[in-house]
Amino acid sequence: ARITLRQLLDHAAENDYGLPAYNINNMEQGLAIMEAAHEVNAPVIIQASRGARNYANDIVLAKLIDALAELYPHIPVCMHQDHGNGPATCATAIQYGFTSVMMDGSLEEDAKTPASYEYNVDVTRRVTEMAHACGVSVEGELGVLGSLETGMGEAEDGHGFEGVLDHSQLLTDPDQAVDFVAATKVDALAIAMGTSHGAYKFTRKPDGDVLAMNVIEEIHRRLPNTHLVMHGSSSVPQDLQDIINAYGGEMPQTWGVPVEEIQRGIKHGVRKVNIDTDNRMAITGAIRKALIEKPGEFDPRYYLKPAKEAMKKLCMERYLQFGCEGQASKI
Ligand code: G3H
Ligand code: 13P
Ligand code: ZN
Repeated sequence: ARITLRQLLDHAAENDYGLPAYNINNMEQGLAIMEAAHEVNAPVIIQASRGARNYANDIVLAKLIDALAELYPHIPVCMHQDHGNGPATCATAIQYGFTSVMMDGSLEEDAKTPASYEYNVDVTRRVTEMAHACGVSVEGELGVLGSLETGMGEAEDGHGFEGVLDHSQLLTDPDQAVDFVAATKVDALAIAMGTSHGAYKFTRKPDGDVLAMNVIEEIHRRLPNTHLVMHGSSSVPQDLQDIINAYGGEMPQTWGVPVEEIQRGIKHGVRKVNIDTDNRMAITGAIRKALIEKPGEFDPRYYLKPAKEAMKKLCMERYLQFGCEGQASKI
């Protein structure tokens, strides 16, 4: 059944767990998420970026989510707009049946330029008014995602900004967070503390200098009733890097967000954990392996089936690691 983000995250907060939010672009990813959730009885957040909506087509995506929810009627499913860049994106998501939208006002509508605080408050408040009138939840973002190692902020296409941002823009300010939540009435708040999107987050295993988990702890102390969201939370597992590289890939050595750091966040108010890159890597590793092992095969099911299974395995691991097991039937 469909459920809003608010309802899911309230339950997660009351029961001290966190929910991974997995990105979807196609049927195999949707089946992987739902099969994993079904096996461990976890509630589901599926999210689609603007890129995903363009890739899959809004109508196909909406009907795919309907089908997935119908297939597993006992699993609560929240369909969420990832990184909405303005009120129009959020409004059309609502028209297509999304039960939650992210208004990312940390960037201007071009999704490239860091926005002023005033712009962020204004646009997020307008989206919250509209979405709440429709019974839809809203996630806002305060602080710009980007690397504390390089000072490069991140545009939506994953490339760094021109020029280097200072530390204060890359870390959410706790005082401002208190003001932002009161002014916008968001249901969940995405914060910046050193993670970035994609595989190349850190050049070594991250410590407190480059991954500022203490910022989460401080914000949670100040806003104990606000659901926090960690973006850029893929762990970029070594075994997936190794599979990709063993079968013809070329990924330079890199580090993501260790699962134990996410678990620490979940102890301090993090309720939604955005993961896309790990699933992309699981899929790509499995496809590379399948194609190399049997170069004569050309039936897409030959490599898409192991790809789906590899993503399902990763999704299940995170459900278990974040404490979601058995929660679906308790909602
Ligand atoms: O926001 C980042 C997610 O990984 C979605 O990426 O915009 O390439 O679909 P995308
Ligand atoms: P990753 O690139 O770390 O998977 O982050 C995904 C994300 O934050 C989507 O909004
Ligand atoms: Zn994100």
